[in-house]
Amino acid sequence: MRKIILTGDRPTGRLHIGHYVGSLRRRVELQNTGGFDEINILVADAQALTDNADNPEKVRRNIVNVTLDYLAAGIDPAKSRIVIQSRIPELTELTFYYMNLVTVARLQRNPTVKTELTMRGFGSSIPVGFFCYPISQAADITAFKATTVPAGEDQEPMLEQTREIVRSFNHTYQCDVLVEPEILLPQNRASMRLPGIDGKEKMSKSLSNAIYLSDEPEDIRKKVMSMYTDPDHLRVEDPGRVEGNPVFIYLDAFAKPEHFAEFLPEYHDLNELKEHYRRGGLGDVKVKKFLNNVLQSTLEPIRTRRHEYEKDIAYVYDVLRKGTDEAEQEAAATLSEVKNAMKINYFDDKELILEQQKEFDEAAKERAAAQAAKGPRQPHRKKEQ
Ligand code: TRP
Repeated sequence: MRKIILTGDRPTGRLHIGHYVGSLRRRVELQNTGGFDEINILVADAQALTDNADNPEKVRRNIVNVTLDYLAAGIDPAKSRIVIQSRIPELTELTFYYMNLVTVARLQRNPTVKTELTMRGFGSSIPVGFFCYPISQAADITAFKATTVPAGEDQEPMLEQTREIVRSFNHTYQCDVLVEPEILLPQNRASMRLPGIDGKEKMSKSLSNAIYLSDEPEDIRKKVMSMYTDPDHLRVEDPGRVEGNPVFIYLDAFAKPEHFAEFLPEYHDLNELKEHYRRGGLGDVKVKKFLNNVLQSTLEPIRTRRHEYEKDIAYVYDVLRKGTDEAEQEAAATLSEVKNAMKINYFDDKELILEQQKEFDEAAKERAAAQAAKGPRQPHRKKEQ
């Protein structure tokens, strides 16, 4: 079986380091180490509109920002397709057919929908489109027959929903058209869900607690130096907590052995640094300075590449157009198989014409036979009053 990747992001803002360690970094690795026949990365603008219906301008502007972040992080358009979701009407069509296979109760139980509903405070005024976005995400994934979805832990319920739709579809229509995807989670726990610089559980634009891939060096430094740490670690001598401490979580996600050799040679590795912090005698400022160096050296090449691509936005749109055109052909092929399986491919279904003609011919024959049995047809007479 072909190994196919599909993943994506909502274009509601520039991408931050949480996106990077959660999925983007992995996509670039998978792209460069091969092993996959196809990589599709979706700029999910239609999904972004499910809760930004009143702000298409925000979505529109961020399509380029997200694409620039992809290219800057190392996504190579010669190896991976970058695709605009709304330019593939087949995805919407698939969504509409899958909707018949999912109950309202099932969507209400989807944990991602549940938390996002409370986070966004929709209450009972949930837009139907937003409520249904797990189904549209299933369409994104299955349209490409994706086997693998590199994504953060928060996407797991979406994948479960997708697998259910695949099973239900294949079972209902007695076929094996759709493929069950697997999620590919980040390699370590820290990368699963990077907290915000304020220590809040999630890094997000709306909470203003994010470090962006495109942040300037001085912004990164300020953000790192202002980070929340262990609130009980008041003096350098105090023992500190490493668990749940965002500075150490970021180091878990970003620090490599080379970084110690380059910026903090008095420690061998992160474990040694953590031990010292736990024991006491290691100040936050020292750890933050190290983290700042690690982030600066990781983000510098990304930012530089971004600035290069920013000089040629027409090229960025060409990349999108090419990726989207190729992707549409695939989605169209899947949609056609889906319609075949559902037997709603009326014009391509030669058998349907023959079959229905036969039925009508037989009915006509039966009528004729019944008539013959009754004897010659009587001329129609008006009823006498
Ligand atoms: N829901 C994803 C996000 O919030 C974006 C997305 C849309 C996606 N379609 C997808 C992710 C398909 C993986 C697979 O960022």
